[in-house]
Amino acid sequence: MSLKSGYEQHAPMTPSQVDYTPALTAIREKIGAFQPTIGLVLGSGLGTLANELENAIVVADADIPGYPASTVQGHSGNLVFGQLEGQDVVVQQGRAHLYEGYTPQQVTFPIRLMTQLGVNTLILTNAAGGINADFDAGDIMLVNDHIYFAGLAGMNPLIGPNDDAIGPRFLGMAQTYDRGLRQTALDIAFEAGETLRRGVYACITGPHFETPAEIRMFRTLGADAIGMSTVHEVVVARHAGLRVMAFSSITNVAIDEIDTTRETSHIEVMEMGAVIVPKLAKIVRGVVRKINA
Ligand code: HPA
Repeated sequence: MSLKSGYEQHAPMTPSQVDYTPALTAIREKIGAFQPTIGLVLGSGLGTLANELENAIVVADADIPGYPASTVQGHSGNLVFGQLEGQDVVVQQGRAHLYEGYTPQQVTFPIRLMTQLGVNTLILTNAAGGINADFDAGDIMLVNDHIYFAGLAGMNPLIGPNDDAIGPRFLGMAQTYDRGLRQTALDIAFEAGETLRRGVYACITGPHFETPAEIRMFRTLGADAIGMSTVHEVVVARHAGLRVMAFSSITNVAIDEIDTTRETSHIEVMEMGAVIVPKLAKIVRGVVRKINA
Protein backbone atom coordinates (compact mmCIF):
# COMPACT_ATOMS: atom_id res chain seq x y z
CA MET A 1 0.00 0.00 0.00
CA SER A 2 1.24 3.47 -0.86
CA LEU A 3 1.80 5.84 2.02
CA LYS A 4 1.80 8.86 -0.26
CA SER A 5 -0.78 11.53 0.44
CA GLY A 6 -3.11 12.84 -2.23
CA TYR A 7 -0.89 15.89 -2.58
CA GLU A 8 2.09 13.71 -3.46
CA GLN A 9 0.18 11.44 -5.81
CA HIS A 10 -1.16 14.29 -7.92
CA ALA A 11 0.29 17.75 -8.35
CA PRO A 12 -2.16 20.44 -7.20
CA MET A 13 -4.08 21.78 -10.15
CA THR A 14 -6.62 24.34 -11.17
CA PRO A 15 -9.49 23.61 -13.56
CA SER A 16 -7.93 25.48 -16.45
CA GLN A 17 -4.69 23.55 -16.06
CA VAL A 18 -6.33 20.15 -16.00
CA ASP A 19 -6.67 18.04 -19.12
CA TYR A 20 -9.86 16.03 -18.65
CA THR A 21 -9.49 14.31 -22.01
CA PRO A 22 -7.80 11.09 -20.78
CA ALA A 23 -10.46 10.62 -18.09
CA LEU A 24 -13.32 11.36 -20.47
CA THR A 25 -11.84 9.04 -23.10
CA ALA A 26 -11.53 6.22 -20.55
CA ILE A 27 -15.15 6.71 -19.48
CA ARG A 28 -16.43 6.94 -23.07
CA GLU A 29 -14.71 3.63 -23.85
CA LYS A 30 -16.96 2.02 -21.24
CA ILE A 31 -20.23 3.91 -21.67
CA GLY A 32 -20.23 4.75 -25.39
CA ALA A 33 -22.69 7.53 -26.21
CA PHE A 34 -24.67 7.20 -22.97
CA GLN A 35 -25.67 10.70 -21.84
CA PRO A 36 -26.42 11.14 -18.12
CA THR A 37 -28.28 14.33 -17.17
CA ILE A 38 -28.54 13.77 -13.43
CA GLY A 39 -25.53 13.21 -11.18
CA LEU A 40 -25.69 11.75 -7.70
CA VAL A 41 -22.93 11.75 -5.10
CA LEU A 42 -23.34 9.15 -2.37
CA GLY A 43 -21.47 9.64 0.89
CA SER A 44 -20.44 7.51 3.87
CA GLY A 45 -22.46 4.33 4.20
CA LEU A 46 -24.90 5.52 1.51
CA GLY A 47 -23.26 4.06 -1.59
CA THR A 48 -25.62 1.10 -1.89
CA LEU A 49 -28.16 3.09 -3.93
CA ALA A 50 -25.70 2.80 -6.82
CA ASN A 51 -26.34 -0.96 -6.81
CA GLU A 52 -29.98 -0.29 -7.67
CA LEU A 53 -29.32 1.29 -11.09
CA GLU A 54 -30.73 -0.47 -14.13
CA ASN A 55 -28.43 -1.33 -17.03
CA ALA A 56 -25.54 -0.29 -14.81
CA ILE A 57 -22.06 0.25 -16.18
CA VAL A 58 -19.49 0.49 -13.41
CA VAL A 59 -16.33 2.46 -14.12
CA ALA A 60 -13.80 1.94 -11.32
CA ASP A 61 -11.85 4.98 -10.14
CA ALA A 62 -8.59 3.16 -10.88
CA ASP A 63 -9.55 3.10 -14.57
CA ILE A 64 -10.08 6.89 -14.77
CA PRO A 65 -6.81 8.87 -15.15
CA GLY A 66 -6.59 11.65 -12.57
CA TYR A 67 -9.54 10.40 -10.51
CA PRO A 68 -9.01 10.86 -6.74
CA ALA A 69 -9.29 7.43 -5.14
CA SER A 70 -11.10 7.39 -1.81
CA THR A 71 -9.08 5.76 0.95
CA VAL A 72 -11.89 5.69 3.51
CA GLN A 73 -13.66 2.56 4.67
CA GLY A 74 -17.27 2.65 3.48
CA HIS A 75 -16.43 4.61 0.35
CA SER A 76 -16.04 2.43 -2.72
CA GLY A 77 -14.74 4.59 -5.54
CA ASN A 78 -16.76 4.09 -8.70
CA LEU A 79 -18.70 6.08 -11.24
CA VAL A 80 -21.81 4.04 -12.00
CA PHE A 81 -23.84 4.89 -15.10
CA GLY A 82 -27.38 3.68 -15.68
CA GLN A 83 -31.08 4.37 -15.18
CA LEU A 84 -32.81 5.32 -11.97
CA GLU A 85 -36.56 5.95 -12.03
CA GLY A 86 -36.38 6.06 -15.81
CA GLN A 87 -33.76 8.81 -15.88
CA ASP A 88 -30.22 8.55 -17.23
CA VAL A 89 -27.92 9.12 -14.27
CA VAL A 90 -24.33 8.85 -13.14
CA VAL A 91 -23.64 7.99 -9.53
CA GLN A 92 -20.41 8.87 -7.80
CA GLN A 93 -20.14 6.03 -5.31
CA GLY A 94 -17.87 7.26 -2.55
CA ARG A 95 -15.83 10.44 -2.60
CA ALA A 96 -12.40 11.79 -1.80
CA HIS A 97 -12.01 14.23 1.09
CA LEU A 98 -9.63 17.03 1.97
CA TYR A 99 -8.51 15.13 5.07
CA GLU A 100 -7.07 12.39 2.86
CA GLY A 101 -4.59 14.96 1.59
CA TYR A 102 -6.37 15.86 -1.63
CA THR A 103 -6.77 19.44 -2.78
CA PRO A 104 -10.26 20.93 -3.20
CA GLN A 105 -9.63 20.77 -6.97
CA GLN A 106 -8.90 17.04 -6.79
CA VAL A 107 -11.89 16.33 -4.59
CA THR A 108 -14.14 17.97 -7.18
CA PHE A 109 -12.58 16.26 -10.23
CA PRO A 110 -15.56 13.86 -10.55
CA ILE A 111 -17.99 16.80 -10.61
CA ARG A 112 -16.06 18.43 -13.45
CA LEU A 113 -16.22 15.11 -15.33
CA MET A 114 -19.96 14.81 -14.77
CA THR A 115 -20.44 18.35 -16.07
CA GLN A 116 -18.48 17.57 -19.21
CA LEU A 117 -20.52 14.39 -19.71
CA GLY A 118 -23.70 16.50 -19.83
CA VAL A 119 -25.02 16.38 -16.26
CA ASN A 120 -27.16 19.44 -15.49
CA THR A 121 -28.61 18.49 -12.10
CA LEU A 122 -26.63 17.28 -9.11
CA ILE A 123 -27.97 15.56 -5.99
CA LEU A 124 -25.47 15.12 -3.17
CA THR A 125 -25.70 13.14 0.04
CA ASN A 126 -23.48 13.06 3.08
CA ALA A 127 -23.26 11.82 6.62
CA ALA A 128 -23.38 14.61 9.17
CA GLY A 129 -23.46 15.26 12.86
CA GLY A 130 -26.65 16.91 14.12
CA ILE A 131 -26.12 20.28 15.77
CA ASN A 132 -29.73 21.48 15.91
CA ALA A 133 -31.05 20.31 19.28
CA ASP A 134 -34.25 19.09 17.63
CA PHE A 135 -32.40 16.60 15.42
CA ASP A 136 -32.01 12.90 16.24
CA ALA A 137 -29.66 10.30 14.82
CA GLY A 138 -31.52 8.71 11.92
CA ASP A 139 -33.03 11.99 10.67
CA ILE A 140 -32.53 13.31 7.15
CA MET A 141 -31.86 17.01 6.63
CA LEU A 142 -32.54 18.77 3.34
CA VAL A 143 -29.72 21.29 2.98
CA ASN A 144 -31.17 24.80 2.63
CA ASP A 145 -27.88 26.64 2.82
CA HIS A 146 -24.33 26.13 4.03
CA ILE A 147 -21.45 27.61 5.97
CA TYR A 148 -18.30 26.79 4.00
CA PHE A 149 -15.89 26.95 6.91
CA ALA A 150 -13.16 25.18 4.92
CA GLY A 151 -13.69 27.38 1.87
CA LEU A 152 -13.77 30.62 3.83
CA ALA A 153 -10.50 29.52 5.39
CA GLY A 154 -8.89 29.11 1.96
CA MET A 155 -9.61 25.47 1.10
CA ASN A 156 -11.77 26.47 -1.85
CA PRO A 157 -11.83 24.70 -5.25
CA LEU A 158 -12.37 27.97 -7.14
CA ILE A 159 -9.07 29.45 -5.95
CA GLY A 160 -6.62 29.78 -8.85
CA PRO A 161 -6.99 30.95 -12.43
CA ASN A 162 -10.66 31.10 -13.43
CA ASP A 163 -11.82 29.37 -16.57
CA ASP A 164 -14.40 31.86 -17.88
CA ALA A 165 -15.67 29.20 -20.29
CA ILE A 166 -16.95 27.24 -17.26
CA GLY A 167 -18.23 29.98 -14.97
CA PRO A 168 -17.64 33.44 -13.49
CA ARG A 169 -14.65 34.53 -11.43
CA PHE A 170 -16.95 35.85 -8.70
CA LEU A 171 -19.80 33.44 -8.18
CA GLY A 172 -23.01 34.52 -6.44
CA MET A 173 -24.00 32.06 -3.72
CA ALA A 174 -27.39 33.38 -2.64
CA GLN A 175 -29.32 30.82 -4.74
CA THR A 176 -27.19 27.76 -4.24
CA TYR A 177 -29.64 25.02 -3.30
CA ASP A 178 -32.31 24.94 -6.00
CA ARG A 179 -35.66 26.10 -4.70
CA GLY A 180 -37.73 23.94 -7.04
CA LEU A 181 -35.78 20.80 -6.20
CA ARG A 182 -36.08 21.53 -2.48
CA GLN A 183 -39.84 21.89 -2.80
CA THR A 184 -40.00 18.63 -4.74
CA ALA A 185 -38.08 16.86 -1.97
CA LEU A 186 -40.44 18.23 0.67
CA ASP A 187 -43.47 17.13 -1.37
CA ILE A 188 -42.04 13.64 -1.89
CA ALA A 189 -41.21 13.25 1.81
CA PHE A 190 -44.69 14.44 2.78
CA GLU A 191 -46.37 12.01 0.37
CA ALA A 192 -44.19 9.19 1.70
CA GLY A 193 -44.96 10.06 5.31
CA GLU A 194 -41.29 10.68 6.04
CA THR A 195 -40.00 13.53 8.19
CA LEU A 196 -37.54 15.72 6.32
CA ARG A 197 -35.61 18.22 8.41
CA ARG A 198 -34.27 21.41 6.86
CA GLY A 199 -31.20 23.36 7.76
CA VAL A 200 -27.74 24.76 7.28
CA TYR A 201 -24.79 22.41 6.71
CA ALA A 202 -21.37 23.46 8.01
CA CYS A 203 -18.40 22.05 6.08
CA ILE A 204 -15.13 21.52 7.93
CA THR A 205 -12.08 19.60 6.72
CA GLY A 206 -11.86 16.91 9.43
CA PRO A 207 -10.57 14.28 9.89
CA HIS A 208 -11.20 14.51 13.60
CA PHE A 209 -14.67 15.17 14.93
CA GLU A 210 -15.38 18.44 16.68
CA THR A 211 -14.88 19.41 20.28
CA PRO A 212 -17.97 20.36 22.29
CA ALA A 213 -16.83 24.01 22.22
CA GLU A 214 -16.62 23.87 18.42
CA ILE A 215 -20.10 22.37 18.20
CA ARG A 216 -21.50 25.15 20.41
CA MET A 217 -19.68 27.70 18.24
CA PHE A 218 -21.23 26.30 15.06
CA ARG A 219 -24.67 26.26 16.67
CA THR A 220 -24.22 29.93 17.54
CA LEU A 221 -23.20 30.62 13.93
CA GLY A 222 -26.42 29.09 12.66
CA ALA A 223 -25.37 25.59 11.60
CA ASP A 224 -27.82 22.72 11.98
CA ALA A 225 -25.52 19.90 10.89
CA ILE A 226 -21.80 19.45 10.31
CA GLY A 227 -19.69 17.28 8.05
CA MET A 228 -16.50 16.97 6.03
CA SER A 229 -17.73 17.04 2.44
CA THR A 230 -20.30 18.13 -0.14
CA VAL A 231 -19.78 21.89 -0.24
CA HIS A 232 -16.63 21.62 -2.37
CA GLU A 233 -18.71 19.75 -4.94
CA VAL A 234 -21.63 22.16 -4.59
CA VAL A 235 -19.40 25.17 -5.28
CA VAL A 236 -17.87 23.62 -8.40
CA ALA A 237 -21.26 22.50 -9.68
CA ARG A 238 -22.80 25.93 -9.16
CA HIS A 239 -19.80 27.53 -10.84
CA ALA A 240 -20.62 25.44 -13.91
CA GLY A 241 -24.32 26.41 -13.69
CA LEU A 242 -25.74 23.07 -12.51
CA ARG A 243 -28.93 22.81 -10.43
CA VAL A 244 -27.93 21.46 -7.04
CA MET A 245 -29.55 19.89 -4.02
CA ALA A 246 -28.11 18.06 -1.00
CA PHE A 247 -29.26 15.79 1.81
CA SER A 248 -27.50 15.14 5.11
CA SER A 249 -28.02 11.86 6.91
CA ILE A 250 -27.84 12.75 10.57
CA THR A 251 -25.78 9.76 11.63
CA ASN A 252 -25.03 11.06 15.12
CA VAL A 253 -25.90 13.88 17.43
CA ALA A 254 -22.82 16.08 17.76
CA ILE A 255 -21.62 16.21 21.36
CA ASP A 256 -21.86 19.70 22.84
CA GLU A 257 -20.70 19.13 26.42
CA ILE A 258 -17.52 17.91 28.05
CA ASP A 259 -17.33 15.27 30.77
CA THR A 260 -19.75 12.97 28.99
CA THR A 261 -18.96 9.30 28.43
CA ARG A 262 -20.10 9.60 24.80
CA GLU A 263 -17.68 9.89 21.89
CA THR A 264 -18.38 10.17 18.15
CA SER A 265 -16.95 7.37 16.02
CA HIS A 266 -16.73 6.45 12.35
CA ILE A 267 -18.35 3.09 13.15
CA GLU A 268 -21.39 4.88 14.55
CA VAL A 269 -21.52 7.05 11.42
CA MET A 270 -21.34 4.02 9.11
CA GLU A 271 -23.91 1.98 11.03
CA MET A 272 -26.46 4.75 11.20
CA GLY A 273 -25.78 5.66 7.56
CA ALA A 274 -26.85 2.15 6.59
CA VAL A 275 -30.04 2.45 8.67
CA ILE A 276 -30.96 5.72 6.94
CA VAL A 277 -30.33 4.45 3.38
CA PRO A 278 -33.81 3.04 2.65
CA LYS A 279 -35.53 6.26 3.76
CA LEU A 280 -33.06 8.45 1.89
CA ALA A 281 -33.26 6.24 -1.20
CA LYS A 282 -37.04 6.63 -1.23
CA ILE A 283 -36.79 10.43 -1.18
CA VAL A 284 -33.92 10.61 -3.70
CA ARG A 285 -35.75 8.25 -6.07
CA GLY A 286 -38.88 10.37 -5.79
CA VAL A 287 -36.96 13.53 -6.66
CA VAL A 288 -35.13 11.87 -9.56
CA ARG A 289 -38.46 10.63 -10.94
CA LYS A 290 -39.87 14.16 -10.98
CA ILE A 291 -36.87 16.02 -12.41
CA ASN A 292 -37.78 17.63 -15.74
CA ALA A 293 -41.04 15.66 -15.60
N1 HPA B 1 -18.88 15.74 12.53
C1 HPA B 1 -18.29 15.86 11.32
N2 HPA B 1 -18.53 15.05 10.31
C2 HPA B 1 -19.42 14.06 10.51
C3 HPA B 1 -20.08 13.87 11.73
C4 HPA B 1 -19.78 14.76 12.80
O1 HPA B 1 -20.33 14.65 13.92
N3 HPA B 1 -20.90 12.79 11.58
C5 HPA B 1 -20.74 12.36 10.31
N4 HPA B 1 -19.85 13.12 9.66
